[in-house]
Amino acid sequence: ASLAALDDVVPASHRVQNRFLPAAPMPTNAFHNTADTDPAIAANRVWGRAILARAGASTLGINTVETSMVRDHDQLDAVFAIATSEGAHWSALSAEARAEILHRAGEILEVRRADLMEVMATEAGKTLDQSDPEVSEAIDFAHYYAEQAKKLGRISGADFTPAKLIAVIPPWNFPLAIPAGSTLAALAAGSPVIIKPAALARRCGAVMVEALWEAGVPRSALQLVNVTTRELASALVADPRVERVILTGGYETAEHFRSLREDLPLLAETSGKNSIIVTPSADLDLAAKDVISSAFGHAGQKCSATSLVILVGSVATSERFRHQLIDGVTSLTVAYATNPLAQMGPLIEPAHGKLLDALTTLDTGETWLVAPQQLDGTGTLWTPGVREGVAAGSHFHLTEYFGPVLGIMTATTLDEAIGLANAVEFGLTAGIHSLDRQEIGLWLQEIQAGNLYVNRGTTGAVVQRQPFGGWKKSAVGAGSKAGGPNYLFGLGTWGIAASSD
Ligand code: ALA
Repeated sequence: ASLAALDDVVPASHRVQNRFLPAAPMPTNAFHNTADTDPAIAANRVWGRAILARAGASTLGINTVETSMVRDHDQLDAVFAIATSEGAHWSALSAEARAEILHRAGEILEVRRADLMEVMATEAGKTLDQSDPEVSEAIDFAHYYAEQAKKLGRISGADFTPAKLIAVIPPWNFPLAIPAGSTLAALAAGSPVIIKPAALARRCGAVMVEALWEAGVPRSALQLVNVTTRELASALVADPRVERVILTGGYETAEHFRSLREDLPLLAETSGKNSIIVTPSADLDLAAKDVISSAFGHAGQKCSATSLVILVGSVATSERFRHQLIDGVTSLTVAYATNPLAQMGPLIEPAHGKLLDALTTLDTGETWLVAPQQLDGTGTLWTPGVREGVAAGSHFHLTEYFGPVLGIMTATTLDEAIGLANAVEFGLTAGIHSLDRQEIGLWLQEIQAGNLYVNRGTTGAVVQRQPFGGWKKSAVGAGSKAGGPNYLFGLGTWGIAASSD
């Protein structure tokens, strides 16, 4: 893989270098209409300078985290007592009144965009090109679920009884949009909420909650709980007063939750091991770009990230694709997230366990197309890695790593490629790059994943346009896709039996 030979293979004007990567499609937000990428990039630069100037200066969320600490069962009981007494008034509000508050929350999030990006950069390592659309996604959730609340109010009459209490347990990798989306959905449906942000992203959770309080959500209807022990977190989830648990996290966490309570009413979006298939008919330059942004955006720490690229037929030996991949990956700017030029930031915590193995060790038959390197002594900052020769059934083929490592597999036919993609036990996102309708049709029919993307990366689902959720072990419990038209329906009970209990 000699870069010196690159100019012979791909003309300089078509090379996938970092200067092209910011133009990877920004999420086109349903309500914000940021489809035109250039102004968004310009805006990022402005935010970037603002954030750089003040990184770490904000006190947003800090006091709230402190005051929301729950240290024992008595304190947790006090939280439940508030939720089930004063908190219950939230359910009595009209759908219109709730919607108005949610819309206002969206407006407040917009005004605070730079602050939110700063907290995401400093606490969670989110680079600006990731945190900016994440704020937009949170705003989209607010406006979308506000309108969905009104719709639910119109169609359900007396038939829908919102859950009396919903616990929201979000992850650290989308530390604003996912806590916001889950909380806003629960509030929209008419339920009071207790939210326990991820321990690695407490400030992000707190600033989101502060915005909702400011918008008019009563503190009794939205309580922030940070716990000091895992046991308290389990007690929160297992309490029978909780009528729905919205979890986004690893599959093992969902299983642990289910072991706590037999009848746990869980809506969980869990792990993924996602692939993009590239066929010989594809636009290989676009494919390389989408694979890179999906594999290495937020250092690969997205449940939706591309972890495998499966090359079909002649693509497996295509020098052009290979060079584009090498050039694009090696020209990414890796830096701490407060650096506005960073295109890939740090891991949330030092690489350890299976991720450290994936960054440092190869299996039989594998070679590094691009070897990852640790850039500093903290164990968090790594350059991206690409391993070739990943074998069917191997560890890398089947394991979720949640980090900046991509594996290349090859297949003789599209059927075989789909088989490799489906062999994993998860089914969250999947992509195909092909310009052949029959190939796309076959793939759409056979592929086993919740979110399917044609000639696009696998990350960055847009609220309303691409409701998000998986199948197989990527979803546990009931529930439909987040950001979609049916999500609120699962947050309560329907019918006479439900309303009379
Ligand atoms: N909703 C997030 C995405 O699509 C996980 O990337």
